[in-house]
Amino acid sequence: MTNKPKVDSPIRGLVIELLNAMTLSEKIGQLSLVPGGGPSGTSELVDSIKQGRLGGILNEIESARVEELQRVAVEESRLGIPLLFGRDVIHGFKTIFPIPLGLAACWNREVVYQCARTAAVEAAAAGINWTYAPMLDIGRDPRWGRVAETFGEDPYLISELAREMVTGFQGEDLSEPDSIAACAKHFVGYGASESGRDYNTTNIPMNELHNVHLRPFRAAIEAGVASMMTSFSDFDGVPVSANHHLLTEVLRGTLGFDGLVVSDFKSISQLTVHGLTGSDRESAREAALAGVDMEMSSSTYEENLERLLTEGRITMTDIDRMVSNVLTLKARLGLFDRPHASRTHSRPVSPREHLASAYRAAVESVVLLKNHANCLPVDIGRLKALAVIGPMADEPYEQLGTWVFDGDSALSQTPLDTLQTRFGETVKIQYARGVPNTRSKDRSGFAEAVRIARESDLAILFVGEESILSGEAHCRADIRLPGCQQELVAEIAKTGKPVVAIVMAGRPLVLQTLLDRADSVLFAWHPGSMAGPALVDLITGEKVPSGKLPVTFPRMTGQIPIYCAHKNTGRPATDETYVHIDDIKRGAFQTSVGNTSFYFDAGYTPQFPLGFGLSYVDFEFANIRLSSAQLRPGEVLYVEADLTNRGTVEAEEVAQLYVRDLVGSVTRPIKELVGFKRVTLKPGETKTVEFSLTSDDLAFYNRNLKFVSEPGEFHVWIGGSSDTELRAEFELLAE
Ligand code: GLC
Repeated sequence: MTNKPKVDSPIRGLVIELLNAMTLSEKIGQLSLVPGGGPSGTSELVDSIKQGRLGGILNEIESARVEELQRVAVEESRLGIPLLFGRDVIHGFKTIFPIPLGLAACWNREVVYQCARTAAVEAAAAGINWTYAPMLDIGRDPRWGRVAETFGEDPYLISELAREMVTGFQGEDLSEPDSIAACAKHFVGYGASESGRDYNTTNIPMNELHNVHLRPFRAAIEAGVASMMTSFSDFDGVPVSANHHLLTEVLRGTLGFDGLVVSDFKSISQLTVHGLTGSDRESAREAALAGVDMEMSSSTYEENLERLLTEGRITMTDIDRMVSNVLTLKARLGLFDRPHASRTHSRPVSPREHLASAYRAAVESVVLLKNHANCLPVDIGRLKALAVIGPMADEPYEQLGTWVFDGDSALSQTPLDTLQTRFGETVKIQYARGVPNTRSKDRSGFAEAVRIARESDLAILFVGEESILSGEAHCRADIRLPGCQQELVAEIAKTGKPVVAIVMAGRPLVLQTLLDRADSVLFAWHPGSMAGPALVDLITGEKVPSGKLPVTFPRMTGQIPIYCAHKNTGRPATDETYVHIDDIKRGAFQTSVGNTSFYFDAGYTPQFPLGFGLSYVDFEFANIRLSSAQLRPGEVLYVEADLTNRGTVEAEEVAQLYVRDLVGSVTRPIKELVGFKRVTLKPGETKTVEFSLTSDDLAFYNRNLKFVSEPGEFHVWIGGSSDTELRAEFELLAE
């Protein structure tokens, strides 16, 4: 569904009328987005607004201040042009949902839509009319702190969820009171920051750029995203915020985007730091001509565009183009007619109304990684004593995860809260942190933790990463459990008591120690406000785990990047060719081992693949079948399989569809996700899972960057994880 902005003639007419009336200073003013959040209406900010030298304010969320600043803009500036009020509303505003990586683990389009819709309602009520989300970077390097904000590694999954988040934020009509403008970011390739170190250089081949990194942005544009944010990153020598090829030829030309492009925070003034320019004036010129309409937080446009115009180094046409995109967004938001949020909300918004949606998302986001001897679910009510251990068991703020500027931790229900409320009367619940925080190497709390474990029938460990350890600029070179948590797990396991481990983190972690010692492991990302009820309901079996990994988990950090849709290479490893470092014979001849693509000490497969997630029931996929052995362009191929719940309780499975194009004019990935759906099954029930494929689903950018599908042999799989072996073959015929 293309929900591209309908910039109809009334808006076009208004914009032209304003451009004709505006002075150059007022035009340049519209291109500035400055931080707010200061004391109410600081005189400098108010003066700028009165003089028409501001287009928008970010991070001003105190409603009364927002109202007053907007009143000044509308009533006391010469042309009364309203302001944009921007904020990072990433996975909730007051009510916090799982971090985006956790939302992606739901593999549920509706949940992502609901998160964005809820966030929009709460943020709009506070006067926010523009959010800097969805973040659509490809998350294939868990060392990168911002992987927490991604929808994972897979372009198809990210694209599907991008559409939902854009539509959730923007509603059916951007001018509705509960709609806020979305901003797809960070265009483009930021996820490929070298060595997973934030803000680092990116070098992405054009074919990979088009076949991987651009796909989610194309989806967001098709969904009608109103704005786009440029990334900080150097892209093959030309930082994106000054990259005309990317911002004009690709974004506006190839992808057809016609909304507003805003820089990232000071990313224009940082062009001198990159060493692309020698002055702010050159930075302003590079960015303006590249296609950045609005400057966030730095002032190179304000201070230099007039001079550049005078020097003839940019034109009034350039400036009018930029201003037009800002004014058009404001008009689409209905700000000229209804500048004040407070006068449009029929009733106050209570975040508590939204906790049920946050709970559902949290439940569906949690991934069961291990369940030895069906240790879970546990009837906690029948226990005599329960030990709750770990630094993440009772952390109302930490469980919210990164990018929760406005998250209300007073709304948080922690796992310890919930356990004590539910079972405190009948079960002896003892709690020990074990370590002061997730980073700490202080083991002085181990003894107490071991003591309560010894006195209990079950130990539930809540470990992982505090919120600050992921998100922007928060990278880790070693992605094992931080601090001495691994040692804590080992000490608790030595008690011989059953151990259930719950991991809250903002990235995939290397979990070998935990997996070796815990009987069951639930990976919960950062689950948000309703972490407690969601996790306790999963532990007790009230809810059955259904989350699936949206990102591959490596066995060792050294394997990174490791992801599903990789190329076959000319020497793929197999179980036959792989040799473990311990099995190499002394004096082995140089070419006697190896010769294919693996690590001696880590093999060639991940700890857990894309799409992996266990349940409390066994699901069985069988009998894959195709509507035809051949697909003609323009026709539809149906792929079906039978899915059975072999368990004793109702449960949900995420059926996934993967394809492989065996031969292409450019090499193609060994497996690509091209479909998924959640299926609910009663005990013993069998359902037919059906997907459809057309030649468009098989298309890719070829050597000449033309989007084509090529005839030939394809493999197709259905399963509950990307390592499914349930496969069929078909042939795509020529046009
Ligand atoms: C930050 C982030 C960007 C965010 C912006 C405004 O540096 O890179 O994602 O939207 O600044 O907070």
